[in-house]
Amino acid sequence: MSASIVIGAQWGDEGKGKVVDVLSEKAELVVRFGGGANAGHTIVIGGKKFVLHLIPSGILQSACINVLGGGCVVDAESLLEEMAGLVSAGIRVSPERLLLAENAHVVTPYHRMIDKLTGAKIGTTGRGIGPAYADKALRVGVRLADLRDDTAAPKVQAQLEHHGALAKALFGFEDVPKVDDVMDRLRDAGKRLRDYIVDPVPTLVSAQKRGANVLYEGAQGVLLDVDQGTYPFVTSSNTTVAGATSGLGVYTPFERRIAVLKAYTTRVGNGPFPTELDNDVGERLRQKGQEFGATTGRPRRCGWLDMPALRRAFQMNAFTHIALTKLDVLAGFGPIQVATGTKEDGSPEYTEFEGFDADLTKAQTFDALPAACQTYLRFIETELSAKLLIVSTGPGRDDALAMEAPW
Ligand code: IMP
Repeated sequence: MSASIVIGAQWGDEGKGKVVDVLSEKAELVVRFGGGANAGHTIVIGGKKFVLHLIPSGILQSACINVLGGGCVVDAESLLEEMAGLVSAGIRVSPERLLLAENAHVVTPYHRMIDKLTGAKIGTTGRGIGPAYADKALRVGVRLADLRDDTAAPKVQAQLEHHGALAKALFGFEDVPKVDDVMDRLRDAGKRLRDYIVDPVPTLVSAQKRGANVLYEGAQGVLLDVDQGTYPFVTSSNTTVAGATSGLGVYTPFERRIAVLKAYTTRVGNGPFPTELDNDVGERLRQKGQEFGATTGRPRRCGWLDMPALRRAFQMNAFTHIALTKLDVLAGFGPIQVATGTKEDGSPEYTEFEGFDADLTKAQTFDALPAACQTYLRFIETELSAKLLIVSTGPGRDDALAMEAPW
């Protein structure tokens, strides 16, 4: 049996999509277990850029089956748009290739409305994620099975009464979507998605029994986990390795627990960021790394690597491997700083590393990387007690060094 899980080790946007794309070449199944269309996984193939929000990145591999697990929250209309975009790019999307868990919750227009009205303090993506998870916890949510079986109407009516009243009373918001319009749209989406909405557990269990390669694709990052992250500046789901088991309902002993981390740190939205560079260097990182949100287009906050935060992320998830991304972005930055400790006043203590300046995409092996670059990578490996699996040296599918066989 071979089960690998890919998790963002920072605050999201680590480049998980590309790592999953590399790994999914030999995967029979690619499975998402949490989050929703707040995620934005960017993959560049043959110069063409794909941004996937909900559909697992394995959809870009023709032989791969993709599962959206029960821990996800699904905006059915945004999902249909994503499906249509893939089809128009020549990608086959069919019920055989995409399984949507019937117990996954539905993000409705009321959730998006409330998120837009209340999300500014946290800096949410405005995709209705928090309100959808809140309704799930309150046990008043709409599930994908409701769309398939046309049982959503009374629940959507209750959402209108609750969220509509809140929007009007607290925010003086008058433009509350009408329940009939919302239901028309949800019914239409339900019809179009009907054959895709299933119980995916038997498929997952049978893949495990067969020993098939299954890749579990995390969304966001460990530091955004609702329980373990920088609360309240977090998303509303469990983004860690542990979240996969609860999100799918199938216990899985992951052999490879792969942490994806950027060679530096970024964060989008509000909340603590000890190594943030609110200066020229941060701006250069943002421009060179094209650090703008794949979902919202917001500029990402940029800073140096933060070892104390990463050490904690590694302890919590028992990561065995590292996929390091965007190493090329650091080229030309002169001396590189890494926070390796925390001072008494809470500010980061830095260790300086020699910079490197070269076109890293030309390096076909680890040994061909500049010596200073190798030192940086080995330091990260040693500090985090995990092995480098992939080093991404550029945006393209092929700009990646495989340090060992991916499966
Ligand atoms: P929400 O998930 O939209 O509720 O947003 C909560 C926090 O998580 C905000 O700071 C968002 O910017 C952040 N967030 C959510 N999804 C992602 C992601 O895919 N990448 C990076 N940050 C994210």
